[in-house]
Amino acid sequence: MGAPPAAHAYDVVIVGSGAAGLTAALSLAERFQVAVLAKGGLSEGSTAWAQGGIAAVLEPGDTFESHIEDTMVAGAGLNDRAAVEFVIENAPASIEKLVRLGVPFNEEGNALHLTREGGHSHRRIVHVDDATGWAVQQALETAARAHPNITLVPDMAAVDLATSRHGERYLGNGHVWGVYALDRRSGKVELYTGRATILATGGAGRTYLYSTAPRGATGDGIAMAWRAGCRVSNMEMMQFHPTCLWNLDVKNFLITEAMRGEGGQLKLPPGVPGAGHRFMPDFDDRAELAPRDVVARAIDHEIKRLGLDYVHLDISHMPPEFVKQHFPTIYAKLLGLGIDITSQPIPVVPAQHYTCGGVIVDLKGRTDLPGLYAAGEVTQSGLHGANRLASNSLLECFVFGEAAAAHIGRHFDEMPAPPPIRPWDESRVTDSDEEVIVQHNWREIRRFMWDYVGIVRTTKRLERAQHRIKTLRREVEDYYGNFRVTADLIELRNLVEVADLIVRSALARKESRGLHYTLDYPAMLPEAKDTVLVP
Ligand code: FAD
Ligand code: SIN
Repeated sequence: MGAPPAAHAYDVVIVGSGAAGLTAALSLAERFQVAVLAKGGLSEGSTAWAQGGIAAVLEPGDTFESHIEDTMVAGAGLNDRAAVEFVIENAPASIEKLVRLGVPFNEEGNALHLTREGGHSHRRIVHVDDATGWAVQQALETAARAHPNITLVPDMAAVDLATSRHGERYLGNGHVWGVYALDRRSGKVELYTGRATILATGGAGRTYLYSTAPRGATGDGIAMAWRAGCRVSNMEMMQFHPTCLWNLDVKNFLITEAMRGEGGQLKLPPGVPGAGHRFMPDFDDRAELAPRDVVARAIDHEIKRLGLDYVHLDISHMPPEFVKQHFPTIYAKLLGLGIDITSQPIPVVPAQHYTCGGVIVDLKGRTDLPGLYAAGEVTQSGLHGANRLASNSLLECFVFGEAAAAHIGRHFDEMPAPPPIRPWDESRVTDSDEEVIVQHNWREIRRFMWDYVGIVRTTKRLERAQHRIKTLRREVEDYYGNFRVTADLIELRNLVEVADLIVRSALARKESRGLHYTLDYPAMLPEAKDTVLVP
């Protein structure tokens, strides 16, 4: 019992070192001592993997109204217009700030080069070749490392939020005062406290067998917030990216949407009737540049109809120098796998890509619990609605990371200082002798989520998934209650929680809208309503 070690007491604790977490940290560090926790290396989140770029109205002739309209159309009307306006109107300032941080965006003449992606009616994507996220992550990390008020803590996996329940006296108002986190090097759970805590833990893509997201995308922040008492919303809106590389060895390499923006065409592969046919115009007038849900469902339809493993994405009709110049990372990666994209098509399949739902936040990044904020992919801010528009996600991280930091800055003096919090209960010191079961359970969840809760759903398949989740939840709780926590066990516990939230949300939506398509309710209802789960 007693106060936490002084070294772990900060003004603000941020969980997550991607675009959202580091943006908030850099803004807060002007006045406050900030700790930024990452469960592995600092660059291991989705931010560093982003390819296409960041959407912003920068082209003469483009307007905020047009970007807002495109976002609402992609989101099938489920978006919160105030959130959409807030993010889009703040986009140019966010880009300027990144330029000042040294992100080397591609230029054309005196302006930034803009590429195009599905669902956008203008060229409005700023980018660094086809590896934008890596450049952004490096610029943010470099600035954060250089700041004396920011402490970066890699290999520190948050287990749960420290709330009023964990105070030495129960204070009863659900206030959040930091996190318990597993130091992966020592195996000990430590307490990080602050007046405010920001969840910036990214998405939950790894709930699915095939995902473009990194291994750590296990929905930890969503699960922690839910357990602490936050509402979550729209968890059925899981985005599947149309074009993930199909390859027996490389399972999750994205082929950026910008390739379709620059002329890439989707075609049927050899060996089937209509081989070589460009099929997207049969499904939508916008062809390859229709929003992602439309393109992913069309590919899924063709794959199932013809019994294919993949379809082809072909950019080989464009001049080789153009292809190499626009997509140097993809060109080099695929050449290493024996595919020369300047002369050969790329085998692609849809794969889980983005979590549109999450912890409910307002325009200041506030969650339902006092002291707890959230920003980035972990949230449901109202921006994306039923389907995220390409390249709006990094943008949301910058705008909401900044908004949360600004609100904390304005209200810090009124926030109560953390009371004495109980240290982690170290009585569970037994090591499990069946670690392999954690791996089996993890694989099982990802398999049935892919099979039963994928691009096309039915009530029966969702109920089947729910039944499996119930059994797994009992097993995982038994493990969690009896054995020493490990990073794998923390993630498995969160995966089960998030899988349950996804399935419950999908069962609750009695219509098809955006990313949620069910054969039992194929029509869209007249009124767009969020699916809100209350703990
Ligand atoms: P992340 O960048 O995912 O960071 C999450 C952080 O949380 C990590 O530091 C992680 O270690 C930490 N964390 C998680 N759990 C814990 C825990 N329990 N304890 C401690 N730390 C934890 N969006 C665009 O707008 N444009 C694009 O071009 C684009 N391309 C993409 C390409 C790919 C392949 C992928 C996967 C996504 C892409 N996206 C793109 C989406 C975008 O990259 C993400 O939505 C965005 O980067 C999320 O940022 P974030 O800060 O919310 O989380
Ligand atoms: C891509 O480059 O296709 C990904 C863009 C995004 O996810 O917004």
